[in-house]
Amino acid sequence: MLLCAVPDRHGCRTVHSPTGLGSRFAYGGSSNMIDLKGTKVVVAGGAGFIGSQMVRELLELDCSVVVYDNFLHGSPRNLEDIEDRIHVVFGDLLNEWQLASAFRTHRPDYVFNFVGDTYVPTAYDMPKRFFDINVEGNLNLLMACKMYDVKRVLYVSSTEVYGEAQDVPMAENHVLNPLNTYAVSKLASDRLCFTFHAEHDIPVIIARIYNAYGPRETEPYVIPEIITQLDKSPVVYLGNLDAHRDFTYVSDTAQGLIATLCSDIPDGEAVNVGSGITFSIRELTERIGKAMGHDEIDIRVDERRLRRLDIEMFKCDATKLRNATGWKPTVGLDDGLQRTIEWFRSHGHRWIWEDRIEGTIRHDE
Ligand SMILES: NC(=O)c1ccc[n+]([C@@H]2O[C@H](COP(=O)([O-])OP(=O)(O)OC[C@H]3O[C@@H](n4cnc5c(N)ncnc54)[C@H](O)[C@@H]3O)[C@@H](O)[C@H]2O)c1
Repeated sequence: MLLCAVPDRHGCRTVHSPTGLGSRFAYGGSSNMIDLKGTKVVVAGGAGFIGSQMVRELLELDCSVVVYDNFLHGSPRNLEDIEDRIHVVFGDLLNEWQLASAFRTHRPDYVFNFVGDTYVPTAYDMPKRFFDINVEGNLNLLMACKMYDVKRVLYVSSTEVYGEAQDVPMAENHVLNPLNTYAVSKLASDRLCFTFHAEHDIPVIIARIYNAYGPRETEPYVIPEIITQLDKSPVVYLGNLDAHRDFTYVSDTAQGLIATLCSDIPDGEAVNVGSGITFSIRELTERIGKAMGHDEIDIRVDERRLRRLDIEMFKCDATKLRNATGWKPTVGLDDGLQRTIEWFRSHGHRWIWEDRIEGTIRHDE
């Protein structure tokens, strides 16, 4: 049973739970939490990979959900099974008029910002677009949140802001040393949230997420790429096999973001969201091979897939989030891979990004 006190300026309520696990998202560590039930939530970038999972999680919480997306990389197909339960606004974050109109119409209580130009190799060809979308887009959204009295907004930042791991695992006070243009644009926006909170009192919290994976991926990140190749043959061509990444199943990531938004962690602060468990790309590939039924696979390095400045290690220290909310991931890698492969097979052995040309790499080209 949840007992709710008077909401504060965030709409936060003091929540007491005899079990410490009062509801699906009251993880038990925090005393001052937002209750999202019945609230209106805008998910900017909600037609994308993680955003479309967030929409599903918010519907579970009885939120009224508005997706704001221009479908640059997201797709209506990511929302088709729930389209009659949500409101979708075809809008661009770079169009302040459209944005203001959407906020004036829908008057959101809370906002998540998943909008991003995200695929690192695309930034080699169009770096300015990354700054337009990732920085100016977020700036416009923060101003709209201020103008329309949004109670709290969560900006989805990235582990990439840290650059190569100096201390492992990586806590929020890790040195910030981004190594690619995507990462620099994410850091600019991450820090903009801090300054906009300090200078304009905008109630914004920053979540630095680690590699998410699962159904409905929109770019050829490593897991969908490996699945696609192993679907055709046991030979797989990849870049840096020794890189270690911290993989989190997408529903765990989305739930971690909800826990962050609802937590009493102060505005302007950054919070890591990641599993804390790393795998090398080689080990990951072997696990995917097994999950797809291959007795043996042949992993080859394709020089063209090596990044110009690559990162050897990302490993999350999620102590801050865990202590504040009790959040921890619930889906292990093998289980998550199995769910992802099943989704891929039941959706015509295709990913959303295969419908686009830009940004994709095909070895057989
Ligand atoms: N996927 C990961 O593992 C990961 C890791 C770290 C950080 N992130 C961050 O999380 C966020 C979501 O990532 P994702 O993988 O779901 O990406 P995604 O590309 O699937 O989602 C981004 C969404 O933003 C939309 N969009 C792009 N430009 C827009 C604009 N100008 N106006 C409105 N909508 C626009 C796209 O159409 C897409 O639906 C991004 O900000 C990304 O930087 C993702």
